Amino acid sequence: MYSIELMVEEHENILKLLKVIQNACCGILEGEELLDEDFRKMISFAREYADKHHHGKEEQILFQQMTEHLGPIGVNLIQHGMLVEHDLGRLHISELEKALNQYREEPQTIYKLHALTEAMGYANLLQRHIDKENQAVYSYAEKSLLPDVLKSVDERVRLFEAKANENHVQETHLRALDELLEKYSAET
Ligand SMILES: [Fe+2]
Ligand SMILES: [Fe+2]
Repeated sequence: MYSIELMVEEHENILKLLKVIQNACCGILEGEELLDEDFRKMISFAREYADKHHHGKEEQILFQQMTEHLGPIGVNLIQHGMLVEHDLGRLHISELEKALNQYREEPQTIYKLHALTEAMGYANLLQRHIDKENQAVYSYAEKSLLPDVLKSVDERVRLFEAKANENHVQETHLRALDELLEKYSAET
């Protein structure tokens, strides 16, 4: 199904960001400088692509339909599972931003430590979250939602994509991700 394939593909891009975050954090532990500008770029990808663009489609379209049509199991899985994790991810990102601001203001090790722990907290959370969606949540949606509901999910996702495309959302953020990958793709 179009929507699920697209969202699994987006997960691949988000996983690349998680690898960038991990490599950047390892570099710092090995004595490299914390490059504020690069961490701001990671935050921007996490907010604009992973959250607004990808979680946006999940929350406004697919998960909304699962909550509406799949009874208590759907509500539980989505509202008490997936959406809680999206929120926790947002918290890690805003705490990371706060730590970066503090470190910029006053370069103390404790702020650098906060930045690393929040960045890795986000990366670990999203990794597990994506595994759950790829392995269980999406396939549950595909086999449990009625065909006409799935069809309307696809239609709405196509519209969402087209609108984002007009605003160059995918192009802009995937290019930024490529730049980060060039710098932080070394295996650690
Ligand atoms: Fe999600
Ligand atoms: Fe997802």
